[in-house]
Amino acid sequence: MGIEFAESDRTAGEAYLRAAAGVDEFEGYAHPHAARVARLAEALAEHFRLSRADRTSIVFAALLHDIGEQTMQRDYIKRDGPLTEAERLDLARHPVIGEQEAARIGADRAVQLLVRWHHEWFGGGGYPDALRGEQIPLGARILRVADAYAALTDARPWRPAGTESEARKHLGLWAGIEFDPSVVLAFLSLEGLPELRSFAREQRKEEEAVPEQTQAPTIIRRPFDDADDRREEIVHAGEQPAQSPWDAGTPS
Ligand SMILES: [Fe+2]
Repeated sequence: MGIEFAESDRTAGEAYLRAAAGVDEFEGYAHPHAARVARLAEALAEHFRLSRADRTSIVFAALLHDIGEQTMQRDYIKRDGPLTEAERLDLARHPVIGEQEAARIGADRAVQLLVRWHHEWFGGGGYPDALRGEQIPLGARILRVADAYAALTDARPWRPAGTESEARKHLGLWAGIEFDPSVVLAFLSLEGLPELRSFAREQRKEEEAVPEQTQAPTIIRRPFDDADDRREEIVHAGEQPAQSPWDAGTPS
């Protein structure tokens, strides 16, 4: 994926690209995730006309955002199936461990803090610090949207890849709760980037011989959940999905 670095950032950028590839390999992802998040986040940072220094911090933090998971080396991260409550709480430490790891490998404080806050929710329901609204730096609000979209449009062992329209709808439903609505609006205006393409097509081609489910699984979420990681439960046709507060009153 074509990430361009200014001459002064090249050595660090290339080191973080290698670190990102290491995290993807640890996670067992079939497609690069961190570099895809970095490209999407960079496009958003350009949309908001952020300074070059801020754009660079956002790209570096995107590359390193889940490095804490690699540092933790937990077997459950790659296990198929839902996490126990204890595992979910343990995994919620990865942004803080990632902040420390980013410091250890020489990333500056801006990058460290964006890694720390990449799971903060605009409505205050995120972690590790339960920041709210503009207490969360714009860079971290950008990372949350880019990370969520990239995760939702790629397959994980416990769920298939969502389509682009499913992921866009998800961003809209959770705007104001998980996501900064202004970042969601900016994201929905992006076009033409190869990183926007969902891997669902590829997956469906692979699954052509398999009969389709009569009804798509519905993702239900609980407070402290987010689109990344295994904070989702999949329920199938016939089960009752939990309603998001945004479902009430939304015209169908
Ligand atoms: Fe994360």
